[in-house]
Amino acid sequence: MRRLNLWWRIALIALGAVVVVVTLVAIVAVVYTALERTTYPNAGLAFDQPLAIPPLLEPTIADGVKTFELTVQSGTRQFRPGTDTATLGFNGAYLGPTIRAAKGETVRFHIANTLAEPTTVHWHGMDLPPIMDGGPHQMIDAGGTWEPTWPVINAASTLWYHSHMMGKTGEQVYRGLAGFFLIDDPADAALGLPSTYGMDDIPLVVQDRLFDASGQFIYRADHSSFLSPGMLGDTILVNGTVGPYLDVPATLVRLRILNGSNARRYDFAFADGRTFQQVASDGGLLEAPVTLDHLLLAPAERAEIIVDMAAIAGPARLISRPITDPMDPISNLVQAILVPGNDEHQGFEILELRPTAGTHPSASVPERFSPITRMAEADATVTREFILDQDGRTINGKAVDHARVDQVVRRGDTEIWVVRNFTSSYHPFHVHGVQFQILDRNGNPPAVNELGWKDTVNVPTTESVRLIVRFASYADPTRPYMFHCHILEHEDMGMMGQFVVVESLDEEVKLTGPVAEMPTVHSGH
Ligand code: C2O
Ligand code: CU
Ligand code: CU
Repeated sequence: MRRLNLWWRIALIALGAVVVVVTLVAIVAVVYTALERTTYPNAGLAFDQPLAIPPLLEPTIADGVKTFELTVQSGTRQFRPGTDTATLGFNGAYLGPTIRAAKGETVRFHIANTLAEPTTVHWHGMDLPPIMDGGPHQMIDAGGTWEPTWPVINAASTLWYHSHMMGKTGEQVYRGLAGFFLIDDPADAALGLPSTYGMDDIPLVVQDRLFDASGQFIYRADHSSFLSPGMLGDTILVNGTVGPYLDVPATLVRLRILNGSNARRYDFAFADGRTFQQVASDGGLLEAPVTLDHLLLAPAERAEIIVDMAAIAGPARLISRPITDPMDPISNLVQAILVPGNDEHQGFEILELRPTAGTHPSASVPERFSPITRMAEADATVTREFILDQDGRTINGKAVDHARVDQVVRRGDTEIWVVRNFTSSYHPFHVHGVQFQILDRNGNPPAVNELGWKDTVNVPTTESVRLIVRFASYADPTRPYMFHCHILEHEDMGMMGQFVVVESLDEEVKLTGPVAEMPTVHSGH
């Protein structure tokens, strides 16, 4: 009897202690979140560096084929005056030139890898044969070359290219291996959207980086703890420029924004609250412009927006607002402890656009572009489920295995891909070789600016997103495409899978190529 009493007492004291601790943590978390909402760690940035505009890469043209030369190289770049940071780039020290081709043209690349390690060059968003895709299977050895070629069948859009080296994508992209790939469609020229490259049509790749005391990039590959969202930095680079400004005409300006960060989302807005119009998503123009006052982009997502630089006098300052998630405020606190002053929920100042004096012709955005046929759920013959799991950085419980084919798709089929996020953080889900449409999010129709073509979709915690996708173009039973989380650290830790497109489901699927030499990836921990 007395013994039982004692145990009860201990249990009660323990319970009381737990309640006190939980309450204290909750109070600290709420206070921390409230304080954080008002802070921009890089507020007061000088905006004294002219924004770098990636040069357009000149092709040679013969027999209707545009041939581009790319050299993967290492170098140094002064992100801050006086300090050389070791970097990687294409044809230069950091990032790569902008590649431009029109729908209907054939492109060819001559790519030389001058690094001491293998790499790949993946054409993100491109509809092309899997052997040309530049995924992990198309490895370019140290000192090696690669010559992919394909006809451009994508619509006018802002695509990009980046390293997809097995287990090293995060690090190679972080150090600089990324660039823009713009597709033009002469039929869109009549729309009259701003289209003078670098003047009123500006590519912006936004990236966050962490520097050490000597000015070198800090990169950490291990983010296997579910508390760590991936590699985050506290310094924002736009086209590789820290604290950038850009002089623009005082009229409509088109920004092609690429979230080229490894793990960070941005909620883009203007400091003065001005609205802007989103005209395109990942795969091309929307059906009509959508007026917004902020826009969330997860890693690898793109958006083209039109800003009216005549509407409000003075500069327009592009910022990223703090992002709230259902898991706040606890996750804010945990992240703040893990990466002090640098969690994924903070706001940032990004870029100052300065309207130049003088008269500029007034312009307007058409009320409608071309109609987009929404794919009907009834057209889909196959439904597949992709579960993003918590601990292992896996999909459907499996880390990627380059000798394993996860899904076999019949060419021409329309499918529904259901992506369920059972984790406590968000994951941008990306599919190679296609552009898809979003059917719904947790059963609700997508926002108007998500009704267009996408190749990467932000899947927030606890959400199920249904995608509808038609695998129209290419079949190859020997070479897979990838699907994966585009947080590059998650991808590198195995949150990726492979699918093969076949002409007929009777066909034998047998992977060829250097699958055996591929480094094995072990999921987290
Ligand atoms: Cu942006 Cu699998 O890539
Ligand atoms: Cu891709
Ligand atoms: Cu992820």
